[in-house]
Amino acid sequence: MSTPKVFVTRRLPQEGIERARREADLDIWPDELPPTQDSLLARVRGTNGLVCLLTDTIDATVMDAAGPTLRVISQMAVGFDNIDVAAATARGIPIGNTPGVLTEATADFTWALLLAAARRLVEADAYTRAGRWKTWGPMLLLGADVGGATLGIVGLGRIGQAVAKRASGFGMRILYFDRQRNEALEKALGAEYVSFENLLAESDFITIHTTYSESSHHLFGEEAFKRMKPTALLINTARGPIVDGHALYLALTTGKIAGAALDVTEPEPIEPADPLLKLENVIIAPHIASASRSSRGRMAVMAAENLVAGLRGEKLPHCVNPEVYK
Ligand code: GLV
Repeated sequence: MSTPKVFVTRRLPQEGIERARREADLDIWPDELPPTQDSLLARVRGTNGLVCLLTDTIDATVMDAAGPTLRVISQMAVGFDNIDVAAATARGIPIGNTPGVLTEATADFTWALLLAAARRLVEADAYTRAGRWKTWGPMLLLGADVGGATLGIVGLGRIGQAVAKRASGFGMRILYFDRQRNEALEKALGAEYVSFENLLAESDFITIHTTYSESSHHLFGEEAFKRMKPTALLINTARGPIVDGHALYLALTTGKIAGAALDVTEPEPIEPADPLLKLENVIIAPHIASASRSSRGRMAVMAAENLVAGLRGEKLPHCVNPEVYK
């Protein structure tokens, strides 16, 4: 059998490329920016596998452009809302993702954002660099206490749990809301299950770790911000559209909430004219929560392993649409 052909939509950590190269002929998109949709359609034609990222829209048109030769779609990310899963399943194509290996890195970064927002670290750095540090100030850059505060976790999956474990070290009261209550997990983590409304009302910090879907679209909008404490801080390392950016801007500028720290925005990248960029009480990072060297390396290897399994016609080790095998 000839070597399978695979389009890879960006350059990836070398360990993943080496793993995939042992079994496939790789066409790797060379640019820093993702392929345009037209380039994607052209490059997938006649391929047997596709390795993609959350920046690529993988819909029925892309799958049909690849044609019936396409045996697997392997996404190097845990989230996969950029892929039309139903369309892939209907075509018998398994989709792989990379859960687990980015959990700790993402939880660490959530905490980096939480602490930075609470203690105004980004503002403080800008203040120092601007030459404004003239003396020790009794009321200079006062922030919020983290130790002993209440943390609200929306979505107690792998990453939410890893965030909760870290919160215990800070002596926090941990609340969570999820579609499903998990009492065993609650006990293990020392977390309390509450309604979404109670989580909004009682938390000093709210951190989002739920998946993005129609039901979580703009979950944090005007109504949610109205219920939050005026001193509360919102952290989002999940997906941008879970938060309504306009409502967030209004909440931050009218004192409904105190601040936000975002690793994800709607759209990505954030528009240069987005008014959130003008606010001092917002930290915005360019979607880097999983970006530790080892985490990204392991994601690339996992994506390669899913790819290889799919090319061989074996079950993917991490498949998001197992119904495809029925
Ligand atoms: C990153 O956002 C991911 O889903 O892996």
